[in-house]
Amino acid sequence: MKKTDNQVLVIFGASGDLTERKLIPSVYNLFCGGFLPEHYAVVGVSRSQFSDQEYRDKVVFNNEHLLAKETASEENLKKFADLVFYQSLDTKDVEKYSVLSDRLSQLDEEKETNHNHIFYLATPPSLYEVIATGLEKVGLNKQEDGWSRLIVEKPFGYNLDSAKKLNQDLLCHFEESQIYRIDHYLGKETVQNMFVTRFANSIFEPLWNRNYIHRVEITASEKVGVEKRGGYYDSSGALRDMVQNHLLQLVALVAMEPPVKPDAESIRNEKLKVFQSLRPYSEDDIKTHVIRGQYMNSKVSGNRVTGYRDEPGVKEDSKTETYVAMKFFIDNWRWADVPFYIRTGKRMPTRVTEVVIHFRPRHHHLFANDKSLANQQNVLVLRIQPNEGILLKFDMKIPGAGFNTEQVNMDFHYDDLTDVYVPDAYERLILDCMQGDATLYARGDSTEAAWEFIDPILKAWENNEEIPVYGYPAGTWGPEHADDLIEGKNMMWRYPCSNLTDDGNYCEL
Ligand code: NDP
Ligand code: BG6
Repeated sequence: MKKTDNQVLVIFGASGDLTERKLIPSVYNLFCGGFLPEHYAVVGVSRSQFSDQEYRDKVVFNNEHLLAKETASEENLKKFADLVFYQSLDTKDVEKYSVLSDRLSQLDEEKETNHNHIFYLATPPSLYEVIATGLEKVGLNKQEDGWSRLIVEKPFGYNLDSAKKLNQDLLCHFEESQIYRIDHYLGKETVQNMFVTRFANSIFEPLWNRNYIHRVEITASEKVGVEKRGGYYDSSGALRDMVQNHLLQLVALVAMEPPVKPDAESIRNEKLKVFQSLRPYSEDDIKTHVIRGQYMNSKVSGNRVTGYRDEPGVKEDSKTETYVAMKFFIDNWRWADVPFYIRTGKRMPTRVTEVVIHFRPRHHHLFANDKSLANQQNVLVLRIQPNEGILLKFDMKIPGAGFNTEQVNMDFHYDDLTDVYVPDAYERLILDCMQGDATLYARGDSTEAAWEFIDPILKAWENNEEIPVYGYPAGTWGPEHADDLIEGKNMMWRYPCSNLTDDGNYCEL
């Protein structure tokens, strides 16, 4: 196991939703798993006023996300709470940051945390640059007595220009090697397993190219709507919220070349090349290859479901997309002319994230009574969530006379490995940053390259009123226009049934 230095985690946005729901529970898991170093502290920072004890009550003793854990014994909670502190600060006022540097100096002495600091930016993105400036003003960006690292939450920019500006601004105060741009999809164990599936098995990689793969499909569907985040979501939409980051990261892992070494720079270099090879969309392509939709009121299993425009914080005439489906190409040697189809949406029939590799159809039909003509392709499904696993669909002989065939499933589920603890994505990523490993964080150039691909779509949607936003009833798979993206007889998106193994348009959910 890698060594973890003594250190302090400083969370900006400490009174917010992300801190309470994800960050503190993840650090708590690291504590219970014995992953924290001997000398460690968490300091919450935001404008609200709390004493240390009041803050511990909020994020530890009364935090339902933490209390729900099996490990939440009184003794564990008490010991963990002793590591948690709070510092009120008007984050916007860069002249006030000496309050924080004084507090950290004092804690570094008392707790022997060796002047090593992670600054986690979980505030509104408009504050990222201000916080970096404030930290520099009091020398907290320096790495003389210990190290200093900055974790930056998504969204990383609002479009290409703002992402470039944010990169430039942060680089005025911190070195690239100090900046950790988080994408929690990369912390998911099954996302990392895609890398292993491809490069640790000799059976897949020889087939992993245009000669054998007909098309690649990636779906990230959510059953929930925008929940309490309507205000944020309405100025973001699915393209910024899910596609520019999470889905393109999955595309990069599916499409990248084998890295020279399994280290941060080699892997990130290969991912960048994928983003640089994405074929740019023309405005005409955008009209035909990118479908956007928005969920509408409906009844699901007899219950009324609120449409997007009626959600709190959403404008009543909003055109923000809650669904996107796209077709695109990667112009390189491996993937020339192989279509990639990706889609994501809220209020869909089920929660599932999966990568579906459709192999080329058989070139010759030997068996005349072939029952699976509609399903002539072998399919490999890398299921990322839930019920993580790998599914292979292939043809078998139906027992009895003749050579009748049928497609069957070979289905592996991660939870069959019962004794393996699968860490939460944030937990894994925070630990990596604690150990100085940036492999699973996005690099600045890659983030910009991903925005470069997405930016023309945003512009076309903004400037061309004629590009429709299709309504779809909550609880369905999105606008049917998305089906037209997929060309080819009998070819369509995979519509997984509730067991996530079988599929078909009309299966039970
Ligand atoms: P919240 O609105 O719940 O919290 C925002 C935090 O920022 C509060 O602690 C607030 O505390 C603090 N803050 C400091 N200065 C300001 C200011 N000038 N104006 C407003 N707030 C300020 O947001 P979330 O926790 O949901 O999100 C935080 C970041 O994490 C955002 O960038 C978001 O995009 C990202 N994120 C959130 C996810 C989630 O599930 N919540 C998922 C992925 C990313 P105070 O008012 O006390 O200063
Ligand atoms: C977040 C998005 O980044 O990812 C949310 O802001 C989305 O809108 C979430 O719901 C999905 O993450 P997961 O891990 O539940 O698939």
